[in-house]
Amino acid sequence: MEFRDVLSRRRMHRAFLPEPVAEESIERIVRTIRRAPSGGFSQGQNLVVVTDPDMRRRIAEAFGEESYVASGGAPFMLTAPLHILVCADESKYHDRYTEADKLEVTGGVETTWPVPYWFVDAGALMMLILLAAIDEGLASAFVGHPEQKRIFDELLGLPPEVVPIGLALIGKPAADPFAEHGTSRLASRRRPLDDVVHRERWRSA
Ligand SMILES: Cc1cc2nc3c(=O)[nH]c(=O)nc-3n(C[C@H](O)[C@H](O)[C@H](O)COP(=O)(O)O)c2cc1C
Repeated sequence: MEFRDVLSRRRMHRAFLPEPVAEESIERIVRTIRRAPSGGFSQGQNLVVVTDPDMRRRIAEAFGEESYVASGGAPFMLTAPLHILVCADESKYHDRYTEADKLEVTGGVETTWPVPYWFVDAGALMMLILLAAIDEGLASAFVGHPEQKRIFDELLGLPPEVVPIGLALIGKPAADPFAEHGTSRLASRRRPLDDVVHRERWRSA
């Protein structure tokens, strides 16, 4: 599939068929981590792949999907046959940026980052995962929960230094009750391009 076609299909799809994702597809999707950039090549990104139906049910429960369904939504977390947790590990950045070649550049002090690169890099990986799923002819979505560190520590045994940024849901698409003209259900709220893209310098409105 051409990149522009993948991109045109990119949306958070909130309805999945329950049939399992082929192992070769899972493998190609998770291997995108090998193409993910990272500050200083620190490689602080991690994925946890969950296909086990009981664990997926427990994750959906912990996220409170039942109350979402009770208020009229479809149980897309429960149905999605593939859950991929995307995680950031800040400690890998401290390890990397205190290596000799980095300290040589900074005169012996550890770099301070302009923003937390571990979250930047995990976000970049999240996008690769979502797009790779579309390239496999599947649909994908990304969800978060305010308590996700605690939830995934308990359910998936994350180490203390590993912070989940959110969960990618992947599967064959079912008809999405939220789809609006084939794009985001919030398409009508989309900010005009001129508001978000600034040419040469930031212009005031
Ligand atoms: C960091 C992040 C967290 C999100 N969390 C949720 C979520 O918890 N539940 C959900 O249904 N959608 C979630 N979304 C999806 C957004 O609502 C969606 O991207 C936005 O409405 C634009 O729609 P589109 O991605 O389909 O174009 C999240 C998206 C991002 C980037």
